[in-house]
Amino acid sequence: MSRPRVPATPPEERPPVTVPRIAELKRNGELIVMVTAYDHPSARAVEAAGVDVVLVGDTAAMVVLGYDATTPVGMEEMLIMAAAVRRGLKAPLLIGDMPFGSYEGSSELAIANAQRFVKEAGCDAVKLERGGPSVDRARAIIRAGIPVMGHVGLTPQTATALGGFKAQGRTAERAAEIAEEALALQAAGCFAIVFEAIPAGVTEALMPKLEVPVIGIGAGPATDGQVLVFHDLLGIFAGHAPRFVKRYAQLHEEMVRALTAYAEDVREHRFPGPEHTYAIDSGELEEFRRYLDQESLAGSAWDW
Ligand code: KIV
Repeated sequence: MSRPRVPATPPEERPPVTVPRIAELKRNGELIVMVTAYDHPSARAVEAAGVDVVLVGDTAAMVVLGYDATTPVGMEEMLIMAAAVRRGLKAPLLIGDMPFGSYEGSSELAIANAQRFVKEAGCDAVKLERGGPSVDRARAIIRAGIPVMGHVGLTPQTATALGGFKAQGRTAERAAEIAEEALALQAAGCFAIVFEAIPAGVTEALMPKLEVPVIGIGAGPATDGQVLVFHDLLGIFAGHAPRFVKRYAQLHEEMVRALTAYAEDVREHRFPGPEHTYAIDSGELEEFRRYLDQESLAGSAWDW
């Protein structure tokens, strides 16, 4: 029987995970654990599990809001979710994912929206996708004093241009492009980079060239840490999961089972039971009944 792994340090005693601490974890060869969260209860759960980094990902568009892409989610929705996560987190580093359209237009726009993640939602850092023009945006945000995490490989905001939600870097040419993007983001000052859906061999070959921590999702075991989407990991999202997802629970089935039991209990008069109801002093109840029995109360329905 497998035993649950309890975090080494109880959550309430953990010092905050800072950007320098992420670099230190890499230097020490300790793997970095990152997961997404989108609301207060998920934040409380990841806090209790002792993860290092929490991303309020724009995957929220798909797993929370029901869109079939990440592009529709906007700053206002991301800020509401990030602020709710902040209220549930103490130790982990909190990163706000800059949604599509919030940073590409200009460095001024990128800085203003990154500042909103810090000022309005209490994030410690932001993440943006791609190399190319995003490198300048990352540099500008970093110069404005906000740490930035890069993201290369499969970048869902531009999945259409990449040919859909599929692995990237499967040719030497495309792998070289990804390498150049990652090196440019590192040179721009990103404190870490996400590698998404990249062949394990490409990641392994590239890792010695990178000094900043690399967090993988579908990029094999050679990275400095791993990230998974909360709903994928817990089986909350019932739809198709990518190859790189490992499900640690099947909570969708568990939720349906519980809700079905509730519906049956209501229909069969099994819920609520006496233990779920409030009592009133019998004298008070008697007096209330007398009040209802008064002739003057009869027929006083609203006259619409
Ligand atoms: O939005 C997100 O959840 C992400 C992770 C998959 C890294 O970008």
